[in-house]
Amino acid sequence: MRTHYCGDVTAGLVGQEVEISGWVHRRRDHGGVIFIDLRDREGIVQVVFDPDRKDIFELADRVRSEYVLHVKGRVRERPEGTVNEAMRTGEIEILARQAEVLSTADTPPFHHDEQAGEELRLRYRYIDLRREGMLANMRLRHEVTRTLRAFLDKKGFIDIETPMLTKATPEGARDYLVPSRTHPGSFFSLPQSPQLFKQLLMMSGMDRYYQIVRCFRDEDLRADRQPEFTQLDIEMSFIDEKMLMLLMERMIRDLFLKVLDTKLPDPFPQITYADAMHRYGSDRPDLRNPLELVEVGDLMKGVEFKVFAGPATDPAGRVAALPVPGGAELSRKDIDGYTEFVGRYGARGLAYIKVNDADAGRDGLQSPILKFLPDEAVTEIMKRTDAQTGDIVFFGADKASVVSDALGALRDRIGADRGLLEGDWRPVWVVDFPMFGYNEDEKRWDALHHPFTAPADDDISRLQAEPGKALSRAYDMVLNGSEIGGGSIRIHDRDMQTAVFGLLGIDEEEAQLRFGFLLDALRFGCPPLGGIAFGLDRLVALMAGVSSIREVIAFPKTQSAHCPLTDAPSDVPANQLKELGLRIRPRADKT
Ligand code: AMO
Ligand code: AMP
Repeated sequence: MRTHYCGDVTAGLVGQEVEISGWVHRRRDHGGVIFIDLRDREGIVQVVFDPDRKDIFELADRVRSEYVLHVKGRVRERPEGTVNEAMRTGEIEILARQAEVLSTADTPPFHHDEQAGEELRLRYRYIDLRREGMLANMRLRHEVTRTLRAFLDKKGFIDIETPMLTKATPEGARDYLVPSRTHPGSFFSLPQSPQLFKQLLMMSGMDRYYQIVRCFRDEDLRADRQPEFTQLDIEMSFIDEKMLMLLMERMIRDLFLKVLDTKLPDPFPQITYADAMHRYGSDRPDLRNPLELVEVGDLMKGVEFKVFAGPATDPAGRVAALPVPGGAELSRKDIDGYTEFVGRYGARGLAYIKVNDADAGRDGLQSPILKFLPDEAVTEIMKRTDAQTGDIVFFGADKASVVSDALGALRDRIGADRGLLEGDWRPVWVVDFPMFGYNEDEKRWDALHHPFTAPADDDISRLQAEPGKALSRAYDMVLNGSEIGGGSIRIHDRDMQTAVFGLLGIDEEEAQLRFGFLLDALRFGCPPLGGIAFGLDRLVALMAGVSSIREVIAFPKTQSAHCPLTDAPSDVPANQLKELGLRIRPRADKT
């Protein structure tokens, strides 16, 4: 039904007869002549309806926004003064000779150039996707997967599919469950990742695997999290972290060069987890932000101010400073705003010192906590933070995790507020993660990555003696403050795997029940192996320059894991439940 896409009808076709099909983007009646901008995937072209052609003129008169038309006509140059340089088709127009309405349309709930609310956009996603920006995002996503596939193909990776109906995979979230009809009372889990299957594929000798794969996690959603999301999942045999990281950053560099025509650094810098927490208060630091945290706990041990002295003497505490150049100009209101902001991360306050005159000693400083601090401490703080006239220094004192979270978030916030970000793309590898983190609520160790990650030191007794000190062979790829990928070298020794399960409070019986197939497989010949998974949605969102991954997913869910388009999840008929042996218990709070 076309000889050309609307967007491809350009000056080279003047004098020719063309056929186009598309949506009515805009219709203007210029007293006697009707102009219709017709739109398809490739762009917009102006069609002119002349009153001389009575039948199609009447048709054009009836047409409304978003009607679908088929038009035949002759391409001609636009009259002088009406050329639109900004449009690819802006030098020409099509004089309609024949036209047909293929579909009428109700008035759309929102127009292309309006900023509609997200709920409405998702409810009418098919209309939302007609917008140029959304189409560009879908195309970018396609470019990205195509380029990644080509790279991996060239490097000898095999694309292998793994099951969606499976057993729980521990990646730290809740599972989505699927009831089984043939095994009443039993459930499949949708995979949180293909982690265990890709390890098994290495044991099968597949050597290099990849998959662009949907993963399912029932967790608290944010702008960069969806209940179902896509990973570029990768696993390799007979490698170490050095080789894997080298290849993966090469892949990402290749991607940015081919798709965005951008050169990323070679090599990517690396930072240890401990360093990242000290300097940035985060394990996914945005290196575009020049602000850094400074430790001051050792200066606060004996001070009168208990708020600082307490955490300074507590081994699990931390007292840190965040100097902000030029920040002395911040108003009382700004500072109150930041105090409220860090409160969301558990901070109980936000002490500060404004440096009005760096050469005037104490008299040049302005601060609600100055009176509590001895001269030596103040002098040393000024020295360590390199605070100059016109700067402000913020302080956090609490449990180490609270201080890191609060000041880390404040660093991001102030970096954005004050326009401090430097450079376009700042990738970094975060390495040397701790093997375990202590779960205060349940009084046990949790795997920081997942339970299959190998420890840096492969001595089991040393690991069991001091699990809190053990480092793992995990690595995260971070880009501009976003964790775009994470992986590790895996345990390929059965005894070590059993020992790690043990440290995680998974006894032999439970290990057999949940991961028996993995433990069995480890008996039959397992190569040294490792891998990584990239968050494809996050990667594409960064490349597209959008702030939410929902912008690069065709049909995403809302923050409450609901789909306004299909209204899923929804009730199911009683007979379907019966077949599954399920009964819904009425909730006390539901009438
Ligand atoms: P991990 O859990 O770190 O590792 O996930 C890998 C990457 O997936 C992305 N991601 C998400 N994206 C959108 N919505 C979510 N809910 C979501 N959760 C994670 C992140 C993250 O870096 N099996 C391991 C990988 C491995 O060890 O090889 C895994 O899944 O960008
Ligand atoms: P107060 O003596 O409680 O009024 O606190 C004096 C200053 O210290 C105020 O600016 C508080 O915001 C700040 N402050 C209180 N608790 C903390 C904390 N845990 N970390 C950092 N600053 C704090």
